[in-house]
Amino acid sequence: MRVPSLSLSLATLALAGHVSATPVRRAQDDQASQRAAAVKQAFQIAWDGYKQYAFPHDQLHPVDNTYDDGYDGWGASAIDALSTAIVMRNAEVVNEILDYIPTINFRNTTVTSTISLFETTIRYLGGLLAGYDLLKGPVAGLVNDTQKVDTILTQAKTLADTLKYAFDTPSGIPYNNLYINSKGNDNSTTNGLATTGTLILEWTHLSDLTGDDEYAKLAQKAESYLLNPQPAWAQPFPGLVGTNIAIDTGLFQDDLVTWNGGDDSFYEYLIKFFVYSPSRFSEYRDRWVAAAESTIAHLASSPSTRPDLTFVSVYNNGTYQLYSEHLTGFIGGNFLLAGSVLGRQDFIDFGLKLVDSWHDTYNSTATGIGPEEFSWDPNSVPADQESFFKQAGFYITASNYVLRPEVIESIYYAYRITGDQKYRDWAWDAFVAINSTTHVRSGYSGIENVNVAGGGGYDNVQESFFFAEVLKYSYLIQADDAEFQVQKNGKNSFVFNTEAHPIKVVG
Ligand SMILES: *[C@@H]1O[C@H](CO)[C@@H](O)[C@H](O)[C@H]1NC(C)=O
Ligand SMILES: *[C@@H]1O[C@H](CO)[C@@H](O)[C@H](O)[C@H]1NC(C)=O
Ligand SMILES: *[C@@H]1O[C@H](CO)[C@@H](O)[C@H](O)[C@H]1NC(C)=O
Ligand SMILES: *[C@@H]1O[C@H](CO)[C@@H](O)[C@H](O)[C@H]1NC(C)=O
Ligand SMILES: *[C@@H]1O[C@H](CO)[C@@H](O)[C@H](O)[C@H]1NC(C)=O
Ligand SMILES: *[C@@H]1O[C@H](CO)[C@@H](O)[C@H](O)[C@H]1NC(C)=O
Repeated sequence: MRVPSLSLSLATLALAGHVSATPVRRAQDDQASQRAAAVKQAFQIAWDGYKQYAFPHDQLHPVDNTYDDGYDGWGASAIDALSTAIVMRNAEVVNEILDYIPTINFRNTTVTSTISLFETTIRYLGGLLAGYDLLKGPVAGLVNDTQKVDTILTQAKTLADTLKYAFDTPSGIPYNNLYINSKGNDNSTTNGLATTGTLILEWTHLSDLTGDDEYAKLAQKAESYLLNPQPAWAQPFPGLVGTNIAIDTGLFQDDLVTWNGGDDSFYEYLIKFFVYSPSRFSEYRDRWVAAAESTIAHLASSPSTRPDLTFVSVYNNGTYQLYSEHLTGFIGGNFLLAGSVLGRQDFIDFGLKLVDSWHDTYNSTATGIGPEEFSWDPNSVPADQESFFKQAGFYITASNYVLRPEVIESIYYAYRITGDQKYRDWAWDAFVAINSTTHVRSGYSGIENVNVAGGGGYDNVQESFFFAEVLKYSYLIQADDAEFQVQKNGKNSFVFNTEAHPIKVVG
């Protein structure tokens, strides 16, 4: 008796829910596809400006229609735009980029300053590998010339072959700052946590695709010093480690613990590398879990004026510092990814709290965009921000916005993992604010002050990651489900590198 009556009432409820939800659902789908189309239009504006005034240089300066070669001079914006153009199914732009890729000389650069192993890995190597994965996989058919697609991988290998001498050090910790034409470096004695620990995904994937395990071995050898930190005092809490590592010995030089720029993507990649290949990289998962549990226990911090918010503080040699960054806004999404993959509701709950809190750094300002740096230390509030601090729970310590993606990125994970419509609305609000405040002349530019209407002036740089990340996450959160999207149930076919390039997992 119990069983049939229960299933009858469930069926009735499901039917009632279905009937009443359908029109709402349909309206939401229509709205989402209009929003997705608006993001595509912004991509086209940014691309057209870049194409006309900057290509094949690295980045457009939209205010005066000039350019820079700040990222190796190989057309960073074009390579960073590739995987976004692919997921948007913008065949024209994809073909333009594919025609360009074989012409790049990755053996040499015209840039006279050093180039960064880390930046080159996440933007170029990551961008090329994601383009290859998508065009060989779920978006095959967007281009018919498979030769062009094969060339992407050949070029990725040439690039890594150019860079790999960086790992030729006594410890295997690479130099980050390289003069590739002379195979030189800047003679640094240390490398950073993020610059050392954000190579494994791209270099291992290159090995998996080419069958040559040299690249994976180099990156994983360097990472081994981060997984087993020495001396012991450099790990003040389980999983949370210092910031600078000696290149000759692999020993940590400090116990400065943060999730901010310089450290951030080391932690991000521990769980993402596990997602990439769970059977091989469970040690990375264990290190992420240790770091995450320590973060909840020791670094989580709520402003005195807004106990409902949660940010993540900095630990430095026995003291805590109450400040954070726009860059750190990825952390909510990273906890959500881990929570969904590991089946840990506590990580999902903490991740959602962080997403809510960083969202408040957006909707508290005059532009609707969050600042570069902020603090909630009640002992050093500037006089002119006392009432802002009281209301918002933080005060601004660097007011600019340089087209960073991290807050929208975390909102994207929140939507994909919970399905809650409010996150789509938050991402859309952020996109509309960015689209209206940062658009200037031939493209989009960083702004000086998020807390004055209009943004207070432009920095005149259209960052390459605006293509790779801001526009991709803004689009994907409104777009239909697809194999390359983050999956609610933790069973992902792709994992996004720290530049938002979707890398195919090997399982
Ligand atoms: C590399 O670039 C430098 C500077 O532009 C140039 O002098 C040199 O000839 C180039 N080398 C090769 C092998 O292309
Ligand atoms: C690729 O080929 C298909 C089928 O032959 C055709 O419909 C499509 O337009 C082609 N796409 C491009 C980008 O040439
Ligand atoms: C690094 O050291 C080498 C060997 O002493 C030297 O030739 C080179 O000029 C140095 N490079 C820099 C950037 O200081
Ligand atoms: C850490 O703090 C102690 C005092 O608590 C001080 O003696 C030491 O020099 C500090 N270390 C660093 C690296 O700042
Ligand atoms: C910002 O968004 C949060 C979450 O939806 C909301 O509770 C809060 O009132 C908003 N703040 C402002 C200033 O609009
Ligand atoms: C985004 O900005 C462009 C350029 O100003 C504008 O044409 C477009 O209407 C904007 N999109 C939205 C949704 O506001």
